[in-house]
Amino acid sequence: MKAFLILGLLLLSVIVQGKVYERCELARTLKRLGMDGYRGISLANWVCLAKWESSYNTRATNYNPGDQSTDYGIFQINSRYWCNDGKTPRAVNACGISCSALLQDDISQAVTCAKRVVRDPQGIRAWVAWRNRCQNRNLSQYIQGCGV
Ligand SMILES: *[C@@H]1O[C@H](CO)[C@@H](O)[C@H](O)[C@H]1NC(C)=O
Repeated sequence: MKAFLILGLLLLSVIVQGKVYERCELARTLKRLGMDGYRGISLANWVCLAKWESSYNTRATNYNPGDQSTDYGIFQINSRYWCNDGKTPRAVNACGISCSALLQDDISQAVTCAKRVVRDPQGIRAWVAWRNRCQNRNLSQYIQGCGV
């Protein structure tokens, strides 16, 4: 009985928290999904961005009271422009996906949408955390020891 209770709590925490990537696991996954050098952006930039946007947590969500939008997932992609959450005023959904798809353990769709984001003229500068924490910095620590 107690074992079932503990298992249940573990399962619940997985459901609520989703997947938190380990740094090198994320680096390898992003490389496999074609992010290294995409639009000239090196892998370390993407890992740095994910670190400061979500702490590598696929289930991260943050509400922006200003425009009533929400940022979703490991890259904190915004519902005003990129995905549909059914509750954001004047939403565009340029990635053509449901925002919940950005919270999956499998980050394929989040990666596809992030690629769409950086095809816009502002590129990776779209992410405030990248500008504040990654731009013009030595990012080698983010992929150090990952074999990528
Ligand atoms: C970046 O930092 C690493 C150590 O984290 C160091 O080995 C490397 O020389 C640095 N690169 C530059 C360009 O400063």
